[in-house]
Amino acid sequence: GRKWIKVSQLDQELKGQTVLVRGRVHAVRGKGKMAFLVVRESGYTVQCLASIAENIVSKQMLKFISGLNKESIIDVEGEVSVPPGEIAGTSQQVEIQIRKLFCVSKALPSLPLTLEDASRSELDFEKAEKEGKQYVKVGQDTRLNNRVLDLRTPCNQAVFRVQSHVSMLFREYLVSEDFVEVHTPKLMAGASEGGSSVFTLDYKGQPACLAQSPQLHKQMGICADFGRVFEIGPVFRAENSFTHRHLCEFTGLDLEMEIKEHYFEVIDLLDKLFVHIFDGLNSKCKKELEAINQQYPFEPLKEAGTIVDPMGDLNTESEKKLGQLVKDKYDTDFYILHRYPLAVRPFYTMPCADDPRYTNSFDVFIRGEEIISGAQRVHDVDLLTKRAIECGIDVKSLSTYIDSFRYGVVPHGGLGVGLERVVMLFCALGNIRKTSMFPRDPQRLTP
Ligand code: 4AD
Repeated sequence: GRKWIKVSQLDQELKGQTVLVRGRVHAVRGKGKMAFLVVRESGYTVQCLASIAENIVSKQMLKFISGLNKESIIDVEGEVSVPPGEIAGTSQQVEIQIRKLFCVSKALPSLPLTLEDASRSELDFEKAEKEGKQYVKVGQDTRLNNRVLDLRTPCNQAVFRVQSHVSMLFREYLVSEDFVEVHTPKLMAGASEGGSSVFTLDYKGQPACLAQSPQLHKQMGICADFGRVFEIGPVFRAENSFTHRHLCEFTGLDLEMEIKEHYFEVIDLLDKLFVHIFDGLNSKCKKELEAINQQYPFEPLKEAGTIVDPMGDLNTESEKKLGQLVKDKYDTDFYILHRYPLAVRPFYTMPCADDPRYTNSFDVFIRGEEIISGAQRVHDVDLLTKRAIECGIDVKSLSTYIDSFRYGVVPHGGLGVGLERVVMLFCALGNIRKTSMFPRDPQRLTP
């Protein structure tokens, strides 16, 4: 009988069976009475052979196969065989002897990117040959302008499977800890994180903002007695700086929770949450991490570590230096800093009880760069109002938020994580555009 199978599932157990595979023409080469075709599906590849010997396929068919354009979608029916020795250049260690082949969707004959294999995907060999060079690097803009092609490389297929696992593991752990998943509005009357990096728009004649975080509404969820809430959703920042780690739209992993005795309860939870995420990635995404590592070699993360009491806020340079220091001294790539000065944290951050020049707040770093920031929140209405005014915030635009605290609220705290940053830093990818499917930065609004 006919049996559809994924390229990734083709193995030697299937020897002798007839299978049906749908994939793309990754490479094709005609040679005498034979055609060699590499079929790719979701980053996995298999070699398929067509032969006119013994009338397995017709002469016309052989010609048709040899003339297929790369990246066209094809259905192949054939018998699985196991050749002696190793098969170089494909991910699957079996071959398919083609019986039938249909072209489902034709691709244009020339491509703006070369997608031969993982290590070559950043290199344009056709262009290099024309220019008489050994290789030409395809610039990041070319890749991003042609993102649907770029995303087809094994490395990029793996990156977004890893990303999917991060949000799945985040949700899995929090649901098991009795958190409720919520969805807060992204259209808001005022800025949630202060004025400078906010996108403004017209909301049917009323001035409005795109949410810079779910901050205010997740806290209102606590005021509404949900106890523990989390959200996975879009976050908008009108960033002016064009850097390797800032996007104008990213995916926020946010949580907010009641605090019983000490704000360290939040740090405790985050520590366990991230151990769950990292362990989950290492055990569930072995193949993906390997594919990424093949193109962009990286070292696995070291054990978690904690250091306390920094005296000031950090810029990129000092974060990196500190990362090196922590690595040298504590041999870790994942660590937490806390007790930031009041002046460098948002208005809703709780001052320390023993010294209000500092706050009950923390940042978490991977490989020397920030991925999480969090804190205990001010839950006293008068202090909250005072802090908003001190920070130059238009209190009127926040009045429904502030009013939510007037009917009683439990002490609480929480944190926000940037999904793209977690994947970028876990996989040591060096640029956040690599971990956003269709990145939005100060210079890019398409594709
Ligand atoms: O540090 P941020 O701005 O904190 C907040 O939004 C707070 N409301 C969080 C809280 O619960 N206290 O953003 C949180 C995280 C950062 O640690 C970083 O990982 C990521 O979001 N992030 C960005 N990621 C990509 N592009 C940007 N422009 C980002 N800005 C922040």
